[in-house]
Amino acid sequence: MCGIVGYTGENQAAPILLDGLKRLEYRGYDSAGLAVRDGDALAEVVKATGKLYHLADKTDQGRSLPGNCGIGHTRWATHGDPSLINAHPHVSGSCSGSGSGKVESDVVGVHNGIIENYGELKEKLLRHGYRFYSDTDTEVVVKLVDYYYKKYKIGPVDAITRTMVRVRGSYALALMFKDHPGEIFAARKDSPLIIGAAENAAFLASDVPAILKYTRSVYYIGNLQVARLSPGSVKFYDLNGDEITLPLTEITWDAEAAEKGGYEHFMLKEIHEQPAAVRDTLVSLVKDGTVDLTETGLTDGDLKRFAQIDIAACGSAWHVGMAAQYVLEDLAGIPVRVELSSEFRYRTLPLGKDTLVIVISQSGETADSLAALRVAKERGAETLGIVNVIGSSIAREADHVLYTMAGPEIAVATTKAYSAQLAAVYALAIRTALARGTVSQERHDALVSELMTLPEKIRRVLEEKERLQWFSTKISNAKDIFFIGRGLDYAISLEGSLKMKEISYIHSEAYAAGELKHGTISLIENNTLVVGMLTQAGLYEKTLSNMMECKSRGAFLMGLTANGNFSVEDSVNFTVYVPKTDEHFMISVAIVPLQLLAYYTSVNRGLDVDKPRNLAKSVTVE
Ligand code: AGP
Repeated sequence: MCGIVGYTGENQAAPILLDGLKRLEYRGYDSAGLAVRDGDALAEVVKATGKLYHLADKTDQGRSLPGNCGIGHTRWATHGDPSLINAHPHVSGSCSGSGSGKVESDVVGVHNGIIENYGELKEKLLRHGYRFYSDTDTEVVVKLVDYYYKKYKIGPVDAITRTMVRVRGSYALALMFKDHPGEIFAARKDSPLIIGAAENAAFLASDVPAILKYTRSVYYIGNLQVARLSPGSVKFYDLNGDEITLPLTEITWDAEAAEKGGYEHFMLKEIHEQPAAVRDTLVSLVKDGTVDLTETGLTDGDLKRFAQIDIAACGSAWHVGMAAQYVLEDLAGIPVRVELSSEFRYRTLPLGKDTLVIVISQSGETADSLAALRVAKERGAETLGIVNVIGSSIAREADHVLYTMAGPEIAVATTKAYSAQLAAVYALAIRTALARGTVSQERHDALVSELMTLPEKIRRVLEEKERLQWFSTKISNAKDIFFIGRGLDYAISLEGSLKMKEISYIHSEAYAAGELKHGTISLIENNTLVVGMLTQAGLYEKTLSNMMECKSRGAFLMGLTANGNFSVEDSVNFTVYVPKTDEHFMISVAIVPLQLLAYYTSVNRGLDVDKPRNLAKSVTVE
């Protein structure tokens, strides 16, 4: 998704903006641009397509753009192809073909989000004499601000709030006005935006890592709120233009946490941070050996009252939902439906106060999941967000929120946040089971005690990484890879397959092992790799026989099972053993070898592990 940054203060803005955009690269982009102004002078815009270093080179690392107030942007194209003229910043007047140069216009701005009614607004502005140079919705919204600014002459905040009333969609906007040197104005609806405060300086960004080097003091600006930044001062306004006060939050992450910590890639670092991520999440949910959901506001009475749980999520978070379904149903005896967020909103699911809708999201900003949350609330369901980013949209709009404690996750392919989400749903399932009387206090205590051993067991799996690194060299030229399993082993297969395809670009599918023979087995040919998940004792024999069906058609078999289950070696070509734990939690140890296998395969293929092609860390468009 797009990334935006802004700075006003005593120092030169351009280098700070470039540094901030670099720390937002993980959001995915195809072009970038800056607008910087030096005191009362006109702002200067410079844009570049492709990687950020092109923009840095074009501005001599920012040195050719003097000035202490500016905004910057990395664009992930949604309206209009990736091109110079469509790159941000956009201006309220005309713009040259290259998109760069002095800004004669009254307003210049950058935007992350989607303006859904930009077409009708463009028509309106055309009728009022505006002309457009780009295909973007952003140019429309910048010109609409200018339209209200000139029409009512009440100032930037008024022009912005009038625009906010008129537009439909999502936005994190940063704007500079020619008549207001040294100031930046920001507005937010649904897209992520934080405001940083420091002595004699003010910052804005799509995400904390962009400004963490400069300040830890941030404001989480709310939906339909406006910010006015000047050196050392930030003011906030509501949709009526009335000044409001927001709490200042101190970020506890170390700057280190957002760096690679000595690992070659963020993904490998984050795979190794899983023991800590799981531990920190469990520690936040288990007090004196008992699961404590007080922080979420969910009581045992609530957990008893719910007749149904619906889970909505995307990607890996949806895979957590698939695992949660088995665990919740098995331990708590409550019916659970799991739906892709992008589909959930089109279901005519009967929802009401006796339904708990759980939305799982690392970023808390995924547009499809935010939309699913809103549909659930509109239909009267009680909602719980399981999210990793404090203050994110889903966290703030859900009735209840359960924070995972994975810390900032930079690699596009999620690992530690996924594992932390699993830990969260195990804890939720155990507490729900105790509240509903489907497990005794003793069983609860035993499950919690086993849960607390997971960090150490995950750490032990990491010690075996060289075997996965070796095996990855055997499969790096594979054409297809299939991951199969039953029950929770199917849920593991889903995540293992996504990890493999999203970072190695090798086609992969996860299949319910019992379903293979209903068509897909026709794709199995000589040396096709089939990875069989064998962590559930009661399903072991059946899955193994499905693997044999593949072997008899030429497949190369990898088996993944718990320590001690050594008979697997007699049937498969390569076996991975993981420490044994309660079968409900086996996914947490079994997923680690699959993450490592995908990681090393991607490295072997010389790919951009942390920023895979076409992908973004947080998909804030629908
Ligand atoms: C997972 O590796 C992918 N990056 C992607 O599937 C991700 O899980 C999905 O987009 C959901 O993101 P969220 O958890 O931030 O909502």
